[in-house]
Amino acid sequence: MTGDEPTPDRILQLANGYWSTGILGVAASHALFTHLEAGVDTAEGLAGRAGISQRGAEALLDGLVALGLVETRGGRYRNTAQASAFLVEGRPTSLTDFARLKLEHADGLKALPDVVRAGAPVNATVEVADNPHWEKVVTAIAAQSVPVATAAAGLLRLAQAGPISILDIGGGPGVYSALWLALNPQARSTQLDWAPINAIARRRVAERGVADRFSCVDGDLHTTDFGSAVHDIVIYSNIAHQEGPQENMALFARIRGALKPGGTLVVSDFIVDDDRGGPPFALLFASEMLLKSKHGSTWRRADFQAWLTKAGFEDIAFHPTPSPATLVLAR
Ligand SMILES: C[S@@+](CC[C@H](N)C(=O)[O-])C[C@H]1O[C@@H](n2cnc3c(N)ncnc32)[C@H](O)[C@@H]1O
Repeated sequence: MTGDEPTPDRILQLANGYWSTGILGVAASHALFTHLEAGVDTAEGLAGRAGISQRGAEALLDGLVALGLVETRGGRYRNTAQASAFLVEGRPTSLTDFARLKLEHADGLKALPDVVRAGAPVNATVEVADNPHWEKVVTAIAAQSVPVATAAAGLLRLAQAGPISILDIGGGPGVYSALWLALNPQARSTQLDWAPINAIARRRVAERGVADRFSCVDGDLHTTDFGSAVHDIVIYSNIAHQEGPQENMALFARIRGALKPGGTLVVSDFIVDDDRGGPPFALLFASEMLLKSKHGSTWRRADFQAWLTKAGFEDIAFHPTPSPATLVLAR
Protein backbone atom coordinates (compact mmCIF):
# COMPACT_ATOMS: atom_id res chain seq x y z
CA MET A 1 0.00 0.00 0.00
CA THR A 2 1.49 3.36 -0.97
CA GLY A 3 -1.38 5.42 0.38
CA ASP A 4 -2.18 6.59 -3.17
CA GLU A 5 -4.67 3.79 -3.93
CA PRO A 6 -8.23 4.99 -4.53
CA THR A 7 -10.64 4.35 -1.65
CA PRO A 8 -14.44 4.16 -1.79
CA ASP A 9 -14.94 6.78 0.95
CA ARG A 10 -15.77 9.74 -1.25
CA ILE A 11 -18.08 7.75 -3.48
CA LEU A 12 -19.96 6.50 -0.43
CA GLN A 13 -20.27 10.08 0.77
CA LEU A 14 -21.55 11.20 -2.63
CA ALA A 15 -24.04 8.34 -2.92
CA ASN A 16 -25.36 9.33 0.50
CA GLY A 17 -25.42 13.01 -0.41
CA TYR A 18 -29.16 13.15 0.22
CA TRP A 19 -28.41 12.84 3.93
CA SER A 20 -26.92 16.35 3.83
CA THR A 21 -29.96 17.80 2.04
CA GLY A 22 -32.27 15.98 4.47
CA ILE A 23 -30.50 16.81 7.72
CA LEU A 24 -29.95 20.45 6.77
CA GLY A 25 -33.49 20.89 5.43
CA VAL A 26 -35.13 19.27 8.46
CA ALA A 27 -32.95 21.15 10.95
CA ALA A 28 -33.92 24.38 9.18
CA SER A 29 -37.61 23.38 9.20
CA HIS A 30 -37.49 22.96 12.96
CA ALA A 31 -35.50 26.18 13.43
CA LEU A 32 -32.73 24.32 15.27
CA PHE A 33 -30.06 26.87 14.31
CA THR A 34 -32.25 29.70 15.59
CA HIS A 35 -32.81 27.92 18.92
CA LEU A 36 -29.07 27.12 19.24
CA GLU A 37 -28.28 30.78 18.58
CA ALA A 38 -30.68 31.74 21.38
CA GLY A 39 -28.62 29.58 23.77
CA VAL A 40 -30.56 26.30 23.86
CA ASP A 41 -27.59 23.92 23.91
CA THR A 42 -28.71 20.36 24.73
CA ALA A 43 -30.59 17.75 22.73
CA GLU A 44 -33.29 17.69 25.39
CA GLY A 45 -33.65 21.45 25.40
CA LEU A 46 -33.78 21.63 21.61
CA ALA A 47 -36.35 18.84 21.46
CA GLY A 48 -38.57 20.75 23.90
CA ARG A 49 -38.16 24.12 22.14
CA ALA A 50 -38.64 22.74 18.62
CA GLY A 51 -41.47 20.36 19.53
CA ILE A 52 -39.66 17.28 18.23
CA SER A 53 -38.65 14.00 19.86
CA GLN A 54 -35.42 13.79 21.85
CA ARG A 55 -34.27 10.86 19.71
CA GLY A 56 -34.90 12.97 16.60
CA ALA A 57 -33.00 15.93 18.05
CA GLU A 58 -30.05 13.69 18.94
CA ALA A 59 -29.85 12.24 15.43
CA LEU A 60 -30.11 15.68 13.83
CA LEU A 61 -27.38 17.05 16.10
CA ASP A 62 -25.09 14.10 15.24
CA GLY A 63 -25.67 14.83 11.56
CA LEU A 64 -25.11 18.57 11.96
CA VAL A 65 -21.84 17.95 13.82
CA ALA A 66 -20.76 15.63 10.98
CA LEU A 67 -21.67 18.30 8.42
CA GLY A 68 -19.62 20.91 10.29
CA LEU A 69 -22.61 23.14 11.04
CA VAL A 70 -22.73 22.52 14.81
CA GLU A 71 -19.92 22.04 17.35
CA THR A 72 -20.16 19.94 20.50
CA ARG A 73 -18.25 19.99 23.76
CA GLY A 74 -19.18 18.09 26.94
CA GLY A 75 -22.69 17.30 25.72
CA ARG A 76 -23.40 20.97 24.87
CA TYR A 77 -23.98 22.19 21.30
CA ARG A 78 -23.55 25.48 19.50
CA ASN A 79 -23.69 26.81 15.93
CA THR A 80 -20.44 27.08 13.99
CA ALA A 81 -19.66 30.58 12.69
CA GLN A 82 -21.05 29.57 9.27
CA ALA A 83 -24.37 28.34 10.69
CA SER A 84 -24.61 31.42 12.86
CA ALA A 85 -24.10 33.73 9.85
CA PHE A 86 -26.34 31.94 7.34
CA LEU A 87 -28.83 29.63 9.08
CA VAL A 88 -30.44 31.75 11.79
CA GLU A 89 -33.92 32.89 10.80
CA GLY A 90 -34.82 36.53 10.32
CA ARG A 91 -31.42 37.67 9.05
CA PRO A 92 -31.19 39.07 5.49
CA THR A 93 -28.52 36.49 4.61
CA SER A 94 -30.44 33.54 6.08
CA LEU A 95 -30.52 30.44 3.85
CA THR A 96 -33.06 28.51 5.96
CA ASP A 97 -35.91 28.93 3.42
CA PHE A 98 -33.54 27.74 0.73
CA ALA A 99 -32.51 24.65 2.75
CA ARG A 100 -36.20 23.78 3.29
CA LEU A 101 -37.00 24.29 -0.40
CA LYS A 102 -34.13 22.06 -1.53
CA LEU A 103 -35.48 19.24 0.65
CA GLU A 104 -38.85 19.65 -1.12
CA HIS A 105 -37.10 19.64 -4.52
CA ALA A 106 -35.21 16.43 -3.73
CA ASP A 107 -38.27 14.44 -4.76
CA GLY A 108 -37.98 15.90 -8.27
CA LEU A 109 -34.68 14.08 -8.82
CA LYS A 110 -36.66 10.90 -9.42
CA ALA A 111 -37.48 12.35 -12.86
CA LEU A 112 -33.83 12.93 -13.76
CA PRO A 113 -33.18 9.55 -15.47
CA ASP A 114 -36.08 10.19 -17.90
CA VAL A 115 -35.15 13.84 -18.35
CA VAL A 116 -31.56 12.92 -19.19
CA ARG A 117 -32.80 10.40 -21.74
CA ALA A 118 -35.22 12.87 -23.35
CA GLY A 119 -33.00 15.97 -23.05
CA ALA A 120 -35.78 18.07 -21.54
CA PRO A 121 -38.34 17.85 -18.72
CA VAL A 122 -41.74 16.36 -19.50
CA ASN A 123 -43.36 19.19 -17.56
CA ALA A 124 -41.15 22.27 -17.79
CA THR A 125 -41.15 24.55 -14.77
CA VAL A 126 -39.59 27.83 -15.74
CA GLU A 127 -41.52 28.43 -18.97
CA VAL A 128 -44.97 28.31 -17.37
CA ALA A 129 -46.63 31.71 -16.80
CA ASP A 130 -47.49 32.56 -13.18
CA ASN A 131 -46.11 29.20 -12.02
CA PRO A 132 -46.49 28.94 -8.21
CA HIS A 133 -43.01 27.32 -8.28
CA TRP A 134 -41.51 30.83 -8.46
CA GLU A 135 -43.27 32.14 -5.35
CA LYS A 136 -41.34 29.74 -3.11
CA VAL A 137 -38.15 30.02 -5.13
CA VAL A 138 -37.85 33.79 -5.12
CA THR A 139 -38.31 34.05 -1.37
CA ALA A 140 -35.82 31.24 -0.80
CA ILE A 141 -33.12 32.61 -3.11
CA ALA A 142 -33.34 36.24 -1.99
CA ALA A 143 -30.49 35.87 0.50
CA GLN A 144 -28.18 34.63 -2.25
CA SER A 145 -28.63 37.78 -4.30
CA VAL A 146 -27.73 40.09 -1.39
CA PRO A 147 -23.90 39.75 -1.62
CA VAL A 148 -24.03 39.85 -5.43
CA ALA A 149 -26.22 42.97 -5.56
CA THR A 150 -23.96 44.59 -2.96
CA ALA A 151 -20.84 43.77 -4.99
CA ALA A 152 -22.45 45.11 -8.17
CA ALA A 153 -23.43 48.35 -6.42
CA GLY A 154 -19.77 48.85 -5.47
CA LEU A 155 -18.52 48.18 -9.00
CA LEU A 156 -21.08 50.59 -10.46
CA ARG A 157 -20.49 53.28 -7.76
CA LEU A 158 -24.23 53.23 -7.49
CA ALA A 159 -24.51 55.41 -4.38
CA GLN A 160 -22.89 58.31 -6.29
CA ALA A 161 -24.70 57.69 -9.61
CA GLY A 162 -27.41 60.36 -9.15
CA PRO A 163 -30.93 60.21 -10.65
CA ILE A 164 -30.66 56.95 -12.60
CA SER A 165 -33.33 54.69 -14.04
CA ILE A 166 -32.98 50.94 -13.43
CA LEU A 167 -34.85 48.04 -15.06
CA ASP A 168 -34.68 44.63 -13.34
CA ILE A 169 -35.79 41.87 -15.75
CA GLY A 170 -37.19 38.88 -13.83
CA GLY A 171 -36.35 40.74 -10.63
CA GLY A 172 -38.01 38.11 -8.40
CA PRO A 173 -37.85 39.15 -4.73
CA GLY A 174 -36.63 42.66 -5.67
CA VAL A 175 -33.32 42.37 -3.81
CA TYR A 176 -31.47 44.67 -6.24
CA SER A 177 -34.15 47.35 -6.11
CA ALA A 178 -34.45 47.24 -2.32
CA LEU A 179 -30.69 47.54 -1.79
CA TRP A 180 -29.90 49.95 -4.59
CA LEU A 181 -32.77 52.38 -3.97
CA ALA A 182 -31.73 52.52 -0.30
CA LEU A 183 -28.13 53.28 -1.37
CA ASN A 184 -29.06 55.94 -3.92
CA PRO A 185 -31.98 58.21 -2.86
CA GLN A 186 -32.30 59.67 -6.39
CA ALA A 187 -32.54 56.33 -8.25
CA ARG A 188 -35.80 54.86 -9.56
CA SER A 189 -36.33 51.22 -10.39
CA THR A 190 -38.80 49.15 -12.41
CA GLN A 191 -39.14 45.39 -12.08
CA LEU A 192 -40.55 43.16 -14.82
CA ASP A 193 -41.87 39.80 -13.63
CA TRP A 194 -45.06 37.78 -13.28
CA ALA A 195 -47.81 39.51 -11.25
CA PRO A 196 -47.70 37.26 -8.13
CA ILE A 197 -43.93 37.69 -7.92
CA ASN A 198 -44.11 41.46 -8.34
CA ALA A 199 -46.51 41.49 -5.36
CA ILE A 200 -43.82 39.77 -3.26
CA ALA A 201 -41.17 42.26 -4.46
CA ARG A 202 -43.40 45.26 -3.71
CA ARG A 203 -43.82 44.03 -0.14
CA ARG A 204 -40.09 43.47 0.37
CA VAL A 205 -39.10 46.80 -1.20
CA ALA A 206 -41.69 48.58 0.99
CA GLU A 207 -40.08 46.99 4.07
CA ARG A 208 -36.90 48.89 3.13
CA GLY A 209 -38.89 52.15 2.98
CA VAL A 210 -38.14 52.83 -0.72
CA ALA A 211 -41.41 51.75 -2.39
CA ASP A 212 -42.15 55.31 -3.62
CA ARG A 213 -39.35 54.94 -6.23
CA PHE A 214 -40.19 51.37 -7.22
CA SER A 215 -42.68 50.25 -9.87
CA CYS A 216 -43.55 46.93 -11.43
CA VAL A 217 -44.61 45.72 -14.85
CA ASP A 218 -46.50 42.42 -14.85
CA GLY A 219 -45.78 40.23 -17.88
CA ASP A 220 -43.59 37.85 -19.84
CA LEU A 221 -40.02 39.03 -20.24
CA HIS A 222 -39.92 37.52 -23.74
CA THR A 223 -42.70 39.72 -25.07
CA THR A 224 -42.99 42.81 -22.83
CA ASP A 225 -41.51 45.98 -24.32
CA PHE A 226 -38.42 47.24 -22.42
CA GLY A 227 -38.65 50.75 -23.95
CA SER A 228 -36.08 52.51 -26.09
CA ALA A 229 -32.98 54.28 -24.66
CA VAL A 230 -34.69 54.85 -21.31
CA HIS A 231 -32.61 53.06 -18.68
CA ASP A 232 -29.15 53.70 -17.22
CA ILE A 233 -28.86 50.17 -15.83
CA VAL A 234 -30.60 46.91 -16.79
CA ILE A 235 -30.30 43.89 -14.48
CA TYR A 236 -30.48 40.30 -15.81
CA SER A 237 -29.79 38.23 -12.71
CA ASN A 238 -30.20 34.45 -12.72
CA ILE A 239 -32.18 34.57 -15.96
CA ALA A 240 -29.56 33.54 -18.56
CA HIS A 241 -29.39 30.00 -17.17
CA GLN A 242 -33.11 29.36 -17.71
CA GLU A 243 -32.90 30.55 -21.35
CA GLY A 244 -31.33 28.95 -24.43
CA PRO A 245 -28.70 30.64 -26.64
CA GLN A 246 -31.28 32.07 -29.08
CA GLU A 247 -33.39 33.57 -26.30
CA ASN A 248 -30.37 35.09 -24.53
CA MET A 249 -29.13 36.64 -27.76
CA ALA A 250 -32.56 38.10 -28.52
CA LEU A 251 -32.93 39.45 -24.98
CA PHE A 252 -29.45 41.03 -24.96
CA ALA A 253 -30.25 42.81 -28.24
CA ARG A 254 -33.52 44.17 -26.79
CA ILE A 255 -31.73 45.21 -23.59
CA ARG A 256 -29.09 47.08 -25.63
CA GLY A 257 -31.95 49.02 -27.22
CA ALA A 258 -33.51 49.80 -23.84
CA LEU A 259 -30.26 51.23 -22.42
CA LYS A 260 -29.36 54.90 -22.83
CA PRO A 261 -26.03 55.49 -24.63
CA GLY A 262 -23.29 54.58 -22.10
CA GLY A 263 -25.76 52.56 -19.98
CA THR A 264 -24.76 49.29 -18.33
CA LEU A 265 -26.20 45.79 -18.44
CA VAL A 266 -25.56 43.83 -15.22
CA VAL A 267 -25.71 40.06 -15.64
CA SER A 268 -25.35 37.72 -12.67
CA ASP A 269 -25.12 34.00 -13.31
CA PHE A 270 -23.28 30.75 -12.58
CA ILE A 271 -20.76 30.97 -15.41
CA VAL A 272 -18.57 28.02 -16.41
CA ASP A 273 -15.02 28.08 -17.76
CA ASP A 274 -14.69 27.94 -21.53
CA ASP A 275 -13.47 24.29 -21.43
CA ARG A 276 -16.33 23.32 -19.04
CA GLY A 277 -13.71 22.14 -16.51
CA GLY A 278 -15.09 24.21 -13.59
CA PRO A 279 -16.14 25.77 -11.34
CA PRO A 280 -18.02 22.92 -9.62
CA PHE A 281 -21.15 24.84 -8.55
CA ALA A 282 -21.83 26.12 -12.07
CA LEU A 283 -21.19 22.68 -13.58
CA LEU A 284 -23.60 20.99 -11.16
CA PHE A 285 -26.25 23.64 -11.75
CA ALA A 286 -26.50 22.56 -15.41
CA SER A 287 -28.46 19.49 -14.19
CA GLU A 288 -30.87 21.74 -12.28
CA MET A 289 -31.64 23.57 -15.52
CA LEU A 290 -31.93 20.30 -17.46
CA LEU A 291 -34.51 19.19 -14.92
CA LYS A 292 -36.48 22.43 -14.86
CA SER A 293 -36.21 24.16 -18.25
CA LYS A 294 -36.54 23.34 -21.94
CA HIS A 295 -33.37 25.04 -23.17
CA GLY A 296 -31.49 26.31 -20.10
CA SER A 297 -28.01 25.42 -18.88
CA THR A 298 -25.06 27.13 -17.29
CA TRP A 299 -23.25 29.05 -20.01
CA ARG A 300 -19.55 29.65 -20.66
CA ARG A 301 -17.78 33.00 -20.47
CA ALA A 302 -17.22 32.66 -24.23
CA ASP A 303 -20.99 32.34 -24.75
CA PHE A 304 -21.73 35.55 -22.85
CA GLN A 305 -18.87 37.32 -24.63
CA ALA A 306 -20.18 36.27 -28.06
CA TRP A 307 -23.87 37.01 -27.35
CA LEU A 308 -23.16 40.41 -25.81
CA THR A 309 -20.80 41.42 -28.63
CA LYS A 310 -23.40 40.41 -31.19
CA ALA A 311 -25.98 42.54 -29.34
CA GLY A 312 -23.72 45.59 -29.70
CA PHE A 313 -21.98 45.73 -26.30
CA GLU A 314 -18.30 46.73 -26.62
CA ASP A 315 -16.91 46.84 -23.09
CA ILE A 316 -17.57 43.48 -21.35
CA ALA A 317 -16.01 42.69 -17.95
CA PHE A 318 -16.36 39.59 -15.72
CA HIS A 319 -16.13 39.96 -11.93
CA PRO A 320 -16.10 37.22 -9.25
CA THR A 321 -18.43 37.73 -6.27
CA PRO A 322 -18.49 36.38 -2.70
CA SER A 323 -20.90 33.65 -3.97
CA PRO A 324 -20.95 31.08 -6.80
CA ALA A 325 -22.28 33.80 -9.14
CA THR A 326 -20.15 35.81 -11.56
CA LEU A 327 -21.08 39.38 -12.46
CA VAL A 328 -20.82 40.57 -16.04
CA LEU A 329 -20.90 44.30 -16.66
CA ALA A 330 -21.48 45.20 -20.30
CA ARG A 331 -21.56 48.67 -21.88
C1 LIG B 1 -34.24 32.58 -10.56
S1 LIG B 1 -35.36 33.89 -10.28
C2 LIG B 1 -34.23 35.29 -10.24
C3 LIG B 1 -34.73 36.43 -9.42
C4 LIG B 1 -33.80 37.64 -9.33
N1 LIG B 1 -33.44 38.15 -10.63
C5 LIG B 1 -32.55 37.31 -8.52
O1 LIG B 1 -31.51 36.98 -9.11
O2 LIG B 1 -32.63 37.36 -7.28
C6 LIG B 1 -36.11 34.06 -11.87
C7 LIG B 1 -37.18 35.12 -11.91
O3 LIG B 1 -37.56 35.32 -13.26
C8 LIG B 1 -38.98 35.32 -13.34
N2 LIG B 1 -39.33 34.82 -14.67
C9 LIG B 1 -38.98 33.63 -15.20
N3 LIG B 1 -39.47 33.52 -16.44
C10 LIG B 1 -40.14 34.67 -16.69
C11 LIG B 1 -40.87 35.15 -17.80
N4 LIG B 1 -40.99 34.44 -18.92
N5 LIG B 1 -41.41 36.38 -17.71
C12 LIG B 1 -41.31 37.12 -16.58
N6 LIG B 1 -40.63 36.71 -15.50
C13 LIG B 1 -40.06 35.50 -15.55
C14 LIG B 1 -39.44 34.42 -12.21
O4 LIG B 1 -40.78 34.71 -11.84
C15 LIG B 1 -38.42 34.75 -11.14
O5 LIG B 1 -38.84 35.83 -10.36
